[in-house]
Amino acid sequence: MRVLFVCLGNICRSPTAEGVLRELARREAPGLLAEVDSAGTADYHVGEAPDPRTCRVAAARGYELWGLRARQVARADFERFDLLLAMDRANLQELQRLAPAVHRDRAQLFLPYAGHSTIAEVPDPYYGDEAGFLRVLELVEEGARGLIARLRDQAG
Ligand code: 4NP
Repeated sequence: MRVLFVCLGNICRSPTAEGVLRELARREAPGLLAEVDSAGTADYHVGEAPDPRTCRVAAARGYELWGLRARQVARADFERFDLLLAMDRANLQELQRLAPAVHRDRAQLFLPYAGHSTIAEVPDPYYGDEAGFLRVLELVEEGARGLIARLRDQAG
């Protein structure tokens, strides 16, 4: 499986998900994922490292994100990835707009994989305080664990 996480800027939520899923899969499900990457629907931060607040909160929980660089999602990503997982509905809509018709079902919301009945979106932490970044990390960890469990079931 190849998984691409998508948020707006590719400097907060989706790089967190990329780093967390890669690390959890390495520890708990080696061989399950052929590729994990992330991208933004906007181009504001292309080429930049993740937000320092994102990196700090992730590092405190054992995830190394400093080396990642932001890029913008492209139509070709629908050929390369099996799943393009959006952090919120606005980014899902943008993905669906970009998707070739045959691959539109590859774009999905990420957080429902966590198994929450109520929370479907990872909130944008960019204009908030550090607590918002910790909340992102917690939600992303839950989502990544749920995603690994689901993909394992599918792989048999
Ligand atoms: P992200 O957060 O989509 O989780 O990377 C944001 C990063 C930058 C901006 C908004 C959200 N911005 O407006 O620059």
